[in-house]
Amino acid sequence: MATPQNVMPGDLVTAAKRITEREMATYAERTTGSQAATERARKVMPAGVPSSFQAYDPWPVVVKHSSGSRMVDVDDNEYVDYDMGFGALFAGHMHPAVRAAVQAQLDHGTLYVTPCELNAEVGELLAERYGFPMWRPTNSGTEATMDAIRLARGVTGREKIVKVEGGYHGHHDEVMISNKPSLDEAGPADAPHSVPQSAGITAGTIADVIVVPFNDADALERALANDDVACFIVEPVMQNIGICLPQPGYLDAVREITERHGTLLIFDEVKTGITAGYGGATNQLGVRPDLICLAKSIGGGFPVGAFGGEAEYMDLITSGKVLHLGTYNGNPLVMAAVKATLTEACPRPVVEETVARNHRLVEACQAIIDRSGIPAHTVRFGAKGCITWAPRPIENYRDYKATDFDLAFAQWIHGINRGVLLPPGLDEQWLISVMHDDVDAMRYADVFAEFVDELTA
Ligand SMILES: Cc1ncc(COP(=O)(O)O)c(C=O)c1O
Repeated sequence: MATPQNVMPGDLVTAAKRITEREMATYAERTTGSQAATERARKVMPAGVPSSFQAYDPWPVVVKHSSGSRMVDVDDNEYVDYDMGFGALFAGHMHPAVRAAVQAQLDHGTLYVTPCELNAEVGELLAERYGFPMWRPTNSGTEATMDAIRLARGVTGREKIVKVEGGYHGHHDEVMISNKPSLDEAGPADAPHSVPQSAGITAGTIADVIVVPFNDADALERALANDDVACFIVEPVMQNIGICLPQPGYLDAVREITERHGTLLIFDEVKTGITAGYGGATNQLGVRPDLICLAKSIGGGFPVGAFGGEAEYMDLITSGKVLHLGTYNGNPLVMAAVKATLTEACPRPVVEETVARNHRLVEACQAIIDRSGIPAHTVRFGAKGCITWAPRPIENYRDYKATDFDLAFAQWIHGINRGVLLPPGLDEQWLISVMHDDVDAMRYADVFAEFVDELTA
């Protein structure tokens, strides 16, 4: 291994490209079953996948089985899963308590479209964790952010919304703006353009969405200056560009500015959720928004979302001024999974133990970086962590774009061939679930050490 002074970024990129070439060939050899399954799927489904997030070159790993912290692909390769359903599987794959609750519910039916007692039980559990009184279930994070934004518009009578550049809040039109804009189109860093991420989004929608950089309170102040913005939707810790932490004082400033301009503050906790700690990022960071959106980790692997907040806002749904609907909302099968996740799979001591296990993994990875002197660092929040291929922490999307994608890709393909499963690229972070034991958690660090040794040899 080279000494820190000897490590030159140019040398590393050359080494990374060599590793990538070799590992791509290995990947192709060991995933022929995934290749065949993807070719079949491509004939009936665009890109051969049910969500475009699942597509990558040359073909994605196609899975036949998962349990606990592990997945097995159609070629019988076994992986420790660090993606855990983009962070949805904090409870692990098929936690025994979730399985038992869902199995028991199957005997009583899956869909009533008239209330069940589980609806109130789940509302009470979310109220207890998050400290907000009123909740409504949805079927996904997309629905949660869509419904929260409509509610904010109903409350304020305003049409414009503000979101952060690089922020992802689901796939409804008004938040499919500037998720990952190319720098050619993105405009000035302190006043980014609103760039649609997909064809099919109307000019009117684009005009209603103002984009600001994360960690820039002055930019938010300018965006809200006309008092015509319904809401600012933001992840308190950005988790679709690795992990991007709020700078000290930023979220307090956001709270003060939004309040002063009569703009509702929506925390999108779809990804932070209960992986951030028992009461989510909201309670970890101590800033209280007006509305919160949840999904993923509260569901134990089942499709769910929820939004909640102060009674004065949620009352607009009670009065019928704002409509919130959905055939599958609060269906008993998924509610049984949520209840088991919140009460049995992820109670406070288990959450704390898992966060501590993740902390040990992050420290092990940081020690490897420190020893080698490579231009990278670790970031952690709750039970999640990531390696960021830049010497200094990133504060926003533009910083993220300046990180080294060649090194990140080489690390990914090297890892996947050694049983470390994550999606390619820098967007995601690892999640240590309550079902990762120490050995499974530390496998990431072991494989990372092997990669860094070869990179710096
Ligand atoms: C922060 C955030 N909000 C909302 C969503 C949308 O959630 P879903 O995929 O359940 O619709 C996602 C999905 O990744 C997300 O990361």
